[in-house]
Amino acid sequence: MKFSDQKIIVTGCASGIGAKTCELLKKEGATVIGVDRNPTTQFVDEFHHADLSDPVSIDALIEALPSGANGLLNIAGVPPTAGATLVLQVNLLALKRLTLGCVDKLADNAAIVNVASLAGVGWPEAIPSIKAASSLVDFDQVGAFCEEHNIDDARSYAFSKEALITWTMQNRWTWRDRGIRMNCVSPGPVETPILKDFIATLGKRVEEDMKVMDRPGTPDDIAPAIVFLASADSVWIRGTNLACDGGMFNHIQCAMNDLL
Ligand SMILES: NC(=O)c1ccc[n+]([C@@H]2O[C@H](COP(=O)([O-])OP(=O)(O)OC[C@H]3O[C@@H](n4cnc5c(N)ncnc54)[C@H](O)[C@@H]3O)[C@@H](O)[C@H]2O)c1
Repeated sequence: MKFSDQKIIVTGCASGIGAKTCELLKKEGATVIGVDRNPTTQFVDEFHHADLSDPVSIDALIEALPSGANGLLNIAGVPPTAGATLVLQVNLLALKRLTLGCVDKLADNAAIVNVASLAGVGWPEAIPSIKAASSLVDFDQVGAFCEEHNIDDARSYAFSKEALITWTMQNRWTWRDRGIRMNCVSPGPVETPILKDFIATLGKRVEEDMKVMDRPGTPDDIAPAIVFLASADSVWIRGTNLACDGGMFNHIQCAMNDLL
């Protein structure tokens, strides 16, 4: 089994893609340390309650998590219906704070996997705001940042994932001397409890995507990609954004470059 003797931390373990990832990891022999705001006992060996919108809760979590984990899978996230401030706090600032706070405690050769989104595909057009967000660490400053950069609720989700994809690329070699690597997975629309929230906020865009897709994804389509990037099979993959979306990322690239 690929994860025998491995401890893997999974945020967002109580639902959807996170829960399915925990299930697969358990099947592969991992000891799963789950983190969520909602309690669960399914597919986790140890559960830590944390509210990732609250820096005090994140710092307490960092203290409480065991040392020597072989993976940190940042899967928790909120949809645009949560509002711009919460979206940036949970999907970006919390993820970075938890990761940077945990990295010293991780085992050498650990894998960090972030779950971004197809919604982050437009990152090259958002570089100035993404650069400005790189120094945004104070959770209380997020509202002002969104106002300054014209990030409303609908835009916030894509922005959080654009910034996450670039942060992952930027950290391709940050911990290379310890063998620690970071990658991300970008799912397309996936049937989980938050899909209806995406449709409610992003309406037309998701509907257009759905028209050309053969079907929406399921957590079963996404979890194996996350588990692969968490495994030793992916040691030479670093800073990569793995599209896991039924071909939508490539469809968008073809459409943008007149290659349809
Ligand atoms: N479902 C989709 O269509 C889709 C598409 C692309 C990317 N994603 C991303 O996949 C990831 C998982 O989403 P999902 O679809 O499985 O949704 P989900 O709602 O089923 O799971 C999200 C989990 O994150 C937890 N969470 C949210 N806010 C939290 C907080 N403040 N503190 C602690 N835990 C918190 C929730 O309790 C939940 O268990 C997210 O990052 C999401 O942005 C989802």
